[in-house]
This record gives sequence, C-alpha cells and structure tokens, in this order.
Amino acid sequence: MPKQTRLLRPDRTGLTDAVDMLRGGGLVAFPTETVYGLGADARNAKAVAGIYAAKGRPQFNPLIVHVADLASACDIAVVKGQALELAKAFWPGPLTLVVALRSNGGIADLVTAGLHTVAIRVPAGKVAQDLLSRFDGPIAAPSANPSGRISPTHADHVMAGLEGQIDAIVDGGPCSVGLESTIIGFDGRAAQLLRPGGLSAENIEKHVKLAVPTPDTVTITAPGQLASHYAPRAALRLNATALYAEEVLLGFGPNLPDATVNLSTKGDLVEAAANLFGYLHRMDDMGCPIAVSPIPNHGLGQAINDRLRRAAAPR
Ligand code: TXA
Ligand code: MG
Repeated sequence: MPKQTRLLRPDRTGLTDAVDMLRGGGLVAFPTETVYGLGADARNAKAVAGIYAAKGRPQFNPLIVHVADLASACDIAVVKGQALELAKAFWPGPLTLVVALRSNGGIADLVTAGLHTVAIRVPAGKVAQDLLSRFDGPIAAPSANPSGRISPTHADHVMAGLEGQIDAIVDGGPCSVGLESTIIGFDGRAAQLLRPGGLSAENIEKHVKLAVPTPDTVTITAPGQLASHYAPRAALRLNATALYAEEVLLGFGPNLPDATVNLSTKGDLVEAAANLFGYLHRMDDMGCPIAVSPIPNHGLGQAINDRLRRAAAPR
C-alpha cells in the first residue's frame, strides 16, 4: 500500500508532526547540512526495517545514527581518544565517526547490521538540530534516495525518489554542503578515512594523522560502498576536455561556454560540492550522456571525484 507522503514545513507545527510520526515508528525525511536523510527512530527495529524497505537497500548496509550533541553520542557509543578530539573539533558538522557501540545504548541491531561498531554524527543543519532536540532521541538516517541513486539535496529530489514509500519530508530548502559526511573509522589507534565527504581530509589532518587512500587506490572500506553508487540513469564520462555528439557538459571552472551547467565558474570546490547532486539530478532529467570536466583532487575535490567515479562506474 503506497503511503500519502506529506510535505512538512520546518516550523513548530511541521516539526511537531514530524516528531509524532517518528515516535509512532514512521519514516520522515529531513534536511541536514550535507544531504537529506531518511529518518526513523534508531531504537525501533521495525521502523528501521522500513528504511531498508523504502530505499530498496541491501539489508546489511549499516546506517548512520544522528544525535543532538556529543553527550547523546556518548550514551550510545564509546567516544574517546582521537574520536573525542575530532568530535570536539568538528561536531556539529559533516563528520561521521565509526566507534564502539555500547551494548546498553538501546540502538536496534538492524541499524548497525549486527556490527559492534556504530557510525554516529551530530549534524549542523538548523532543521536537523531542531528535529533532534524535539525528538529527544537517536535518529537513524541514510541518505533519502532509492538505493544506488543520486543523493538528494532538495526536498523535491526526495519526493521524486521516495513518494508513496515514506510518511513525510520536512522541507528545509537546499542543503548547504551538498555532499555526504566524511566517515572516519579507527583501526586500533590509527584514524582511517572510510569515505571522503563534506569535511576535507586536510582539515581533519590538522587534528589527527589520517591514513588517506590515494585517488588510484581508493579502497572501499565502508560496507556497502558499492562501486556503482550515486548513479544517474545517464552514462557519465569523467575528465572530459572536449564534448562528443549528444553529450551535455557538467563543467567546472572558468571559460567553458559549452557547459550546460557549471559546478563552479570560479573553480571553487566548496561551491562545486554544494551544487554537485542537484546538477546531476538536473542533467539526468535531460536524458543525454553526461561529460564531466576534470576536477582537482584536493580539499573537497577528493569527495567530489569519489562520488563521480562511482556515478560513472559500469553497471
Ligand atoms: O551526510 C551523511 O552522512 C548522510 C546524512 C543523511 O547524514 N547520510 C549518509 O548515510 O550518507 P548513508 O547510509 O547513505 O551512508 C552511510 C555509510 C555507508 O557507506 C555505510 O556502509 C557506512 O556509512 N557505515 C555505517 N555504519 C558503519 C560501520 N559501523 N562501519 C563502517 N561503515 C559504516
Ligand atoms: Mg547514501
């Protein structure tokens, strides 16, 4: 039975409705500073199962738990040492830490797919913060797209992908960062970059030494980081310096008159990250093969290139 998916405003009434739905085991998409998440009460196994069903997600791909602050994170997980240092430096913000799960933390097994670790973060977006503090509990939320599709950075993207599958979407406008959070895990004592994202590795390295995979040796360490993730329906060709027949150009940088859209005419990687998924959605709707300009591989460029490589992977 398809659900009636309601669009809620991020005001008192809308957030009260969203909280009531979450408490009742419902599925509510909401904006974070990175991308829209598809939220459910992380303590309610049935509700969490609904996330996997709505997304058509492979069952054993664990989810990120969102909490209001560091203290709430510590009720669920062991945040100490380098993890604590990073949490203090970057939360709230686009950083997810994979840390040991507390067995009495109340998180449904399905959230972590039975692992003894949990991916946890404190999002910075105002609507996410307001929702978490009103809900007063942990919200499990993957990106709010059908599995394998482009992550949503607008409420419209969520509606297009998940209408009828979820109870509501809190419309908080576009996401400011536009790329998923950076995921850091800890192997013994060493911090490892599991997924490049909205917080640059350079920034993290100001606090802890990081094992960073180079662009050619990107290993896929976060479970479920499928090679052909983030896929538009159209074919995608990377590092394009010229256009083939029928292609549309997703440009980056100045002097690209042929670009259908340009991630950043100034060549600003932060601006490009914020535009990436929205522009991919827009170009995908045009139904033509997509050529993408070269994007430098430093700062947020690393995460942008990671997403683009996955979007271009054969499938
Ligand atoms: O910005 C974001 O991170 C967004 C917003 C909504 O917060 N969320 C997001 O979630 O991107 P999702 O489910 O699309 O990606 C979560 C990633 C997956 O690659 C998953 O495999 C990994 O986190 N992950 C979750 N728990 C893990 C764990 N215990 N160990 C290693 N990786 C884990
Ligand atoms: Mg995702």
